[in-house]
Amino acid sequence: MKIALLGFGTVGSGVEKITRGIPALDIVKILHRKPAKLNDSRATSSFDDIVADGEIDCVVEAIGGIHPAREYILAALEAGKHVVTANKAVTAAHMGEFVQAAAASGACFLVEATSGGGIPWIKNLQRAARIDEITGVHGIVNGTSNFILYNMFKDGADFAAVLAEAQALGYAEADPSADIDGDDARNKCAISATVAFKGLVPVSLIPQFGIRTITKADIDWCIQQGLVCKLFATARCEGETWCATVEPVLLPAGELEAAVPRNYNVTCLTGATIGDLKFYGQGAGSLPTGNAIVQDLLDIASGEAWPLTFDRALTHEPNLLKGRYLIRLSARTAAAEAAFGPLAERWEEDGPGRLLVHTGTVGSGELHRAVSTCRQDDPGLWIARWIER
Ligand code: HSE
Repeated sequence: MKIALLGFGTVGSGVEKITRGIPALDIVKILHRKPAKLNDSRATSSFDDIVADGEIDCVVEAIGGIHPAREYILAALEAGKHVVTANKAVTAAHMGEFVQAAAASGACFLVEATSGGGIPWIKNLQRAARIDEITGVHGIVNGTSNFILYNMFKDGADFAAVLAEAQALGYAEADPSADIDGDDARNKCAISATVAFKGLVPVSLIPQFGIRTITKADIDWCIQQGLVCKLFATARCEGETWCATVEPVLLPAGELEAAVPRNYNVTCLTGATIGDLKFYGQGAGSLPTGNAIVQDLLDIASGEAWPLTFDRALTHEPNLLKGRYLIRLSARTAAAEAAFGPLAERWEEDGPGRLLVHTGTVGSGELHRAVSTCRQDDPGLWIARWIER
């Protein structure tokens, strides 16, 4: 199969390296802004040449971002070329139109590498969903934030220093705030939930809270309580309604998800007959992500690709997910009282500048709305949902 690679950064170079040993996959063009820099006869700066080249069967999109990735993907699909992408942002935002364009031209649009890095997650989710109604998906789906939390918990590492290390290792997004603030996990949550529930889950309806505000004092508090904090993406579907969140959670130290180290991810599904299934592996990095792309390429080359389909009309119910939350504030202000008073079961002083609000069981929509009203007043506030088994 003749392939054009769009982008030669962390992911593109991983794909190129792995395919060198696979004769069925022949990369014939590499799109790069500065082709001379690549010192490779396949390098070109012209996407038009790629899309007009009738020899090219498949395009791997590894440039990231929304534009021009969206235009390139659509043009390739409309030209009847298969598209394999690792781009979570563009897939979460435009999945509907990509799937439609692929169906119209008979091309495949595959997204294994968008969610869970090297974990064979999307195809296994499709396999599970062909038998079972999937009622929930959850997991740790951002390698960078897990790398940061893991190192802060393990040896008290400094947030900024660990983030710099994650960037050097090629885990972080071009703008790492997408990792730290939960945007990247939210994209993966929307993609996974759409595949699992077979109905479009719009990313814009998923509330998010990242790991930017967790402090050493919060981590010490967790350790004292025998808890670990992880950033979870969670989605649930009941009947024709769905709900999803991206937020920190508190887990007892012995739980499987609590033990996920470094840049590793864990992705989990719950099906009616299979029960809980959990998949574990490296969630970020050049070769793991490249590996997921190459799996998609081989599926296309061998005629074993499974098209993405989602034809259920689902309704968003923002409080379908419920839980007890911990909110750490700096003071009991009027804004805090107004936001959290109705949700609080207990307020607890925890040393200077540390006030803990323990909520009762609340809907996640209600909780995130309260957080957003209070956040301007107390920008360093931190929240986490208790995971209760
Ligand atoms: N920045 C992403 C992460 C890369 O850290 O998980 C893999 O999608």
